[in-house]
Formats: sequence, structure tokens, C-alpha cells
Amino acid sequence: MATYQFPDSHVFYRKLTRRFPLITHGEGCWLVDADGRRYLDGSGGAFVANLGHGVAEIGQAMAAQAAKVAYLNGTAFTNEPVEALADALAELLPGELDKFYFLGSGSEAVEAALKLARQYWVETGKPSKHKVIALFPAYHGNTLLALSASAREHYKTYYREWLVDIHRIPAPYSYRCECGGSAARRLGGSSDCPVCSGSALEAAILQLGADNVAAFIAEPVGGSSTGHSVPAPGYFRRIREICDRHQVLFIADEVLVGAGRTGTWSAIEQYSVAPDIMTFGKGITGGYAPLSVVAAPRRLLDPIAKGSGALLHAQTFSHHPVLAAAGLAAVRYLKAHGLVERCRRMGEVFHRKLAALRELPHVGDVRGRGLLAGIEFVADKGTRAPWPRKLKFAETFSEQALAAGLMTWANMGQADGTNGDLSCLAPPFVIEESEIDELVRRFTVALEATLTKVRHA
Ligand SMILES: Cc1ncc(COP(=O)(O)O)c(C=O)c1O
Repeated sequence: MATYQFPDSHVFYRKLTRRFPLITHGEGCWLVDADGRRYLDGSGGAFVANLGHGVAEIGQAMAAQAAKVAYLNGTAFTNEPVEALADALAELLPGELDKFYFLGSGSEAVEAALKLARQYWVETGKPSKHKVIALFPAYHGNTLLALSASAREHYKTYYREWLVDIHRIPAPYSYRCECGGSAARRLGGSSDCPVCSGSALEAAILQLGADNVAAFIAEPVGGSSTGHSVPAPGYFRRIREICDRHQVLFIADEVLVGAGRTGTWSAIEQYSVAPDIMTFGKGITGGYAPLSVVAAPRRLLDPIAKGSGALLHAQTFSHHPVLAAAGLAAVRYLKAHGLVERCRRMGEVFHRKLAALRELPHVGDVRGRGLLAGIEFVADKGTRAPWPRKLKFAETFSEQALAAGLMTWANMGQADGTNGDLSCLAPPFVIEESEIDELVRRFTVALEATLTKVRHA
């Protein structure tokens, strides 16, 4: 078997305790290893492979750009793919979001978005506005400001002393909300729970003093931290009103849920509101290159243009022509093949078929939107009690899924900061109905294997 493991090779792997199969190529929803074993990419890797694997056009566009000019410094020059990608994104985004800053990772985009919010307030004569409010559970990245904004405790274990203080309000995570939000919503009622309605944000702003608050950052549909919990229809309208009333910038982090993943180009547009700043990453190139984007309206940039003259976020590889060429080719490919529309259509099939998982033992909830779904595992379906963390249920499940030839994404800690086990799914938009059936079948096999392991632990 062609597998690799620390310390036998020279690679510093992301996990130092497991063997890694060597993937040689991908086709559509499938990854193939050196032994010819096929893995159904049920999570698009880390919510990235939106277009499917092996789309030659994207690499060809990058190679063509690299052959013309591969690198320019963004302080001196602009380039064709950056200009064309910005034009294309301006047509796709809601509200006045029509200026785009290009970076590499999602964490970089979140850092830049938060810095932009802060710099805007300083340059408009409100320097006291510096505090950031974020949700818990939530994830916004792993560099130190983005990690500070994240409520993913296990990622902070060794670095707490280096993190900055971010104020938190509970996420609209109805499965575990005290109000029993999901039950209320299923009955079609609108929740007046402060968490599920969004009004908890106002209480937080008043507590901190609106003059001190720069921004509120949230994912329009929960990412892996809440297992893709979908806020109530009125949630972001309330958030928008509160942010407007108190002059707080609303940053929608669409690094995971954007670029079509929930069935519309941006996830926030399904709430009929526009944020002040938006971030994209992951699926924006379908994984063909690491590109991220900060989107902002002109009204935020004008004061900076008249003041200091630049966002103070210098990065060598910003506005990179080859990465932008990948983004442009991916956006064109999505459009040409109607893949965002397909994601919405297949998303309905996906959720209909995933509903069967609810009947399996220890599946507490199945939720999500578009081709994005979270399955929450519990020790007890009645009480929703999580498994004890020491069992590592989510991690065991994802290993068993891989053994069954299914790539999934594990997350944990959502129930109370420590306990809680999630499996997240986000297949490529090209997935076929028969492949969804296969995904459900492999998921079921993996769950049986996990339960056997856990019972013997
Ligand atoms: C919502 C969200 N924001 C930011 C990030 C950070 O992106 P990256 O891992 O590319 O730095 C992630 C990554 O999972 C994410 O899900």
C-alpha cells in the first residue's frame, strides 16, 4: 500500500500519528489513490472542491497567466485577471459590495476584514470603536486575530496568552438553544428568543457601549462549528437593523458557505440583507488555488482613500495574477455550467436523502442548506446529551468513513465548548443522485463501525 507516515518521510504532516494514502488524481466527486482505491469526496475536502476534481480549464487558465506574468507587486501594478475577477464578483454580490481585496487563505481575509473595520472607524474620527463581537460556536480562521474571533476552544489550547479579547454572544444554533428554537421554527413560528432572533447582539452592544464596538462578525449559515445550523429567516434582518442603529459594521464571513455552497452565490442573500464587509475563500477557486477575497463597499474605502491612503495589511502575495486567474476561471466555470443553480437543486435531493440518517442510532440532528449538511451525533437522542469527549466519536467516525471510502469533515466541542461530535458534508456541486445514495450508504457503514469501536472502547 502506498501510504506515508511521520517520521518515515520528510513531510511535516498535519497529523503526526496516522498514515496518509497518496492521492494521485481526482475525477468529479472522487479521489483516487496510488493503489487505485477510490474515495467519494463527501466534504469537498475542507468545503473547498465545489467544481469537482480534475477540471482541466482551471489549471490551463493558471498556466496561461503564469506564462504571461506570474507575479507583480500589488503596491505598484494591477493585472488583467484581478481586474476581470473583481468585475465578475461585483455582479454577483449583494448591496454595494463592489470593491475586492485579494489574498490567499480565509484566515488572511478575516484578519484583513477586521482590520478594515477598525481602520475605517479610526479614519472617520471614531477611534474608540475597536471591540469585535462574534458568535459561539464559530470559526473564522487560525491566524491569531482570526483565531481570537473563533470560538473553537481546542484550537486555542497552546496560544491563549497571544489572543485578543473578543466579545461573544451565543450562535443561533437551534438544536441546542434553550428556547428549543428548531421546534418553534418547524411549527412556522417566529422565535422571540434573544439568541435565535438576533436581539442578543443589541444587548451586547449596549453592554460594551456602541462607541466602543467596531464590528460584528458571523457566518450567514453556520460553518463546521455549529454543524451548519441555519439561522431563522428573520435573523440577519434583525442583525442588520441593530448594526445600523448602533453604527457597528456587519462582517459576513462566507469563507465556507459562500461561492454557491448554499445554493446562491452568497449565503447571506437568502436573508435579503447585505453586510458591510464580506469574506470569501475555500470554494472561490474550487480548490485549484488558495485565493481569498475581502469585499467592501466604496463608502468604507473613501475615508481611507482620503486619509492614510491604504488598508494597512501588506502581504507579498496579495492581488496575485495566477491566483486571480484561477478564481476567474472558477467563477466562469460555475456560470457556464449552471453549477450554483445545480447546487440548489441537488441540495434538495441531498437533504431529502440525508433525512434517512435521522433514523440511525445516535444521530441527533441532520441540518444544513444547499449541498452543505451537518450530522450531529449524540449519546442520547432523547436528552441530546453528547458523547464524552474522551471517546473522540467524531474523529473515530471520520476515520471509519475514510476506511469505507468516504471523505467527511469532523468537528467537535459544539455542545458545550468541549463535548459534541459533528460530521460535516459538502460534496462537489457536480454530484449525481446515485452518488448521494452511495454517500448515504457509506456513511451508514461508517457509523456502524464507529459504534462498534466506541462500544469496545
Ligand atoms: C468561516 C471560516 N472563516 C475562515 C476560515 C479560515 O480559512 P483558512 O483555513 O483558509 O485560513 C475558515 C476555515 O475553515 C472558515 O470556515
